[in-house]
Amino acid sequence: MDRFRLPLMALLMCLNSLALALDLTPQEQAGKRLYREGLASGDAQVSARVGAADILVPASVVPCASCHGADGQGRPEGGVRPPALNWQRLARGAGEHRVNGRQYPAYTEASLARAIQEGRDPAGNALDPAMPRFVLSMADQRNLTAYLKRLVEDRDPGVDEQHLRLGTLLPQSGPLAGAARVVGAVLAGSIEQVNQQGGIHGRQLQLTVIDPGPDRASAEQALKRLIEEERVFALVSPLAPALGTALPLMLEQRGVPMIGPLSLPAANVQNRLVFEPLPGVREQLLSLASYAAERLGVKEQPALIVYSEPEQAPLAEVLQQGLQQEGWRALRHEAFEANQPLTYAAQSVFFLGDGAGFVQLTEALQRAGQSPYLFAAANQVAGEVATVPAQWSQRLFLAYPFLPGDWTDTGRAALTDVRRRQQLGAQQTLLQVTAYCSLQLLGEGLKRAGRDVSREKLLAALEGLYGFDTGLTPPLSFGPGQRQGLSRAHVVGVELPGPRFHPL
Ligand code: HEC
Repeated sequence: MDRFRLPLMALLMCLNSLALALDLTPQEQAGKRLYREGLASGDAQVSARVGAADILVPASVVPCASCHGADGQGRPEGGVRPPALNWQRLARGAGEHRVNGRQYPAYTEASLARAIQEGRDPAGNALDPAMPRFVLSMADQRNLTAYLKRLVEDRDPGVDEQHLRLGTLLPQSGPLAGAARVVGAVLAGSIEQVNQQGGIHGRQLQLTVIDPGPDRASAEQALKRLIEEERVFALVSPLAPALGTALPLMLEQRGVPMIGPLSLPAANVQNRLVFEPLPGVREQLLSLASYAAERLGVKEQPALIVYSEPEQAPLAEVLQQGLQQEGWRALRHEAFEANQPLTYAAQSVFFLGDGAGFVQLTEALQRAGQSPYLFAAANQVAGEVATVPAQWSQRLFLAYPFLPGDWTDTGRAALTDVRRRQQLGAQQTLLQVTAYCSLQLLGEGLKRAGRDVSREKLLAALEGLYGFDTGLTPPLSFGPGQRQGLSRAHVVGVELPGPRFHPL
């Protein structure tokens, strides 16, 4: 997929997703299409004049939703402030209204049409030329007016007066079942915690869990069911690596936000909708690489990325690109098999895979008489580090998204409470913390989005989070185009035998 085409395609797909939260009449449906996509019900093209120069463009290029928001709340951007389109407010009472310094009496259907078609408010004030003048047939205008009257009620799926429904994918069998149980328990315990404190803006959180099954096809089916039948508002911490890059793509097509880790970083996909609390394996290894470049001075020397399972090949590719961008030159990547020697003598070896593969790698290097620096993500290999031969002492470096020193008393107490509720031990801490932080992040986004929540508002709220304190990690920050709360990991040196760990 090419990097430049994707955002536009994603925007179009997103506007196409008709997620109906209430029953609309055919007329209101047609109005919604016009509002969201700029398309008329028949074949006729709708156009609009834009800017002070009145340039004529298809309305599909400037649908109402692109400025006023799919939820009608208005999306301010670069000094342009499209107001909220709430018919109940626009048409209310006899009093004067004040918007953007204009003052005008209540809207009627006729003056609404004039605003949309001629750019004048009910007092005759010219609207800012950033608001296009739309060329509409009488039928189009009637449809649009009908929909604008329902717009505030047309909530995203999964939200009613008392509940907000979240969804996740957790396998009940297979190699990931144990991890899935841990994630499920942390999510359930955290949600119980939130609900006992009164929920969020008076709504109780609900969680729908579906098993993604054994392969990609079954996982795609499960995700579709979660979105289309269960109608969840957002996804939290799903565990379905078989989906790979299909996960962000399917979410983008359907406009569903997700808070939680992606199993595969999709190098060229813009993920507008996915917020990851912690750095992925790629970012962790890049943190190790910058340590290696700055402190060990090995950037100019041969470096190798090895992976012990074929599924890691795309990740190795992505990592290689990342390292090249950082200026590493003599770089290769290759698959590693236990009994085959490595073909390339490197000064630095970056490892992707599991603990067993990592131990085999150290043995193979030793047999070949090589002793490069070794770099790996702690969550992949830390369990086996004690069995690594002592010759790697101080040549082995691990990345950790957080360290015990990042835990505050409040954070520790909250996680302990979640564990107690679910009779969960301290196993798989990284998984626990990731799931816990995903839910904290989602909760904070929902709080900031307000009672009148929509998916768009949630995304805007998350994007605006800066220095958010989870109590278990360094503070998380997001921003436009910034979808990982922590872009860097801690680097820890390993002393053997022991092992003893030294944060660097
Ligand atoms: C390119 C951005 C943009 C698009 C697209 C757009 N608007 Fe606007 N709209 C604005 C801005 C900006 C204002 C505020 C103008 C001002 O206050 O002077 C506005 C004002 C309005 C107002 C006046 C509200 C008031 O309080 O007086 C209405 C009604 C309105 N838009 C409806 C629509 C409808 C319906 C569509 C789609 C058919 C649409 N707009 C498309 C930017 C846009």
